[in-house]
Amino acid sequence: MYIYISLMKKKLINISFFIFLSIVISPQVIKADDLFDLGKKIFLEKGNCTTCHTLNDANSYGNVGPNLDEIKPDITRILLAVTNGIGVMPSYEGELSKAEIIAVATYVAQITN
Ligand code: HEC
Repeated sequence: MYIYISLMKKKLINISFFIFLSIVISPQVIKADDLFDLGKKIFLEKGNCTTCHTLNDANSYGNVGPNLDEIKPDITRILLAVTNGIGVMPSYEGELSKAEIIAVATYVAQITN
């Protein structure tokens, strides 16, 4: 039981859960277009990603973090950064729901790649 709980706490498990969700469940529950639109909304509003990042599609020109059009992050990289935080960038765990994190990662990955 203890081993199970400590395993569950590992971020790695969380991330596999995200990937599982985004690949297996989300496309069936939410239409791809809806996920994309929701992701854009979160990028602009609730997530405040525009404060720090440049992303042309979002008319966003923040320069605290890397230019997302330039680094073209894949979805795993975005999920990790948003979930755990990286450097100055805060973790969004608790701030955004898992579904919202998947949505914003889907949006950024699709629009930059
Ligand atoms: C307070 C400013 C800030 C906010 C808000 C912010 N970021 Fe960041 N972000 C950064 C910084 C700084 C880095 C570079 C961190 C480093 O490499 O040390 C970064 C890195 C990233 C990376 C690259 C991660 C990697 O592996 O190199 C992605 C993708 C990213 N951010 C996406 C987002 C998204 C999506 C949001 C909104 C949910 C967001 N960021 C909000 C500052 C921010």
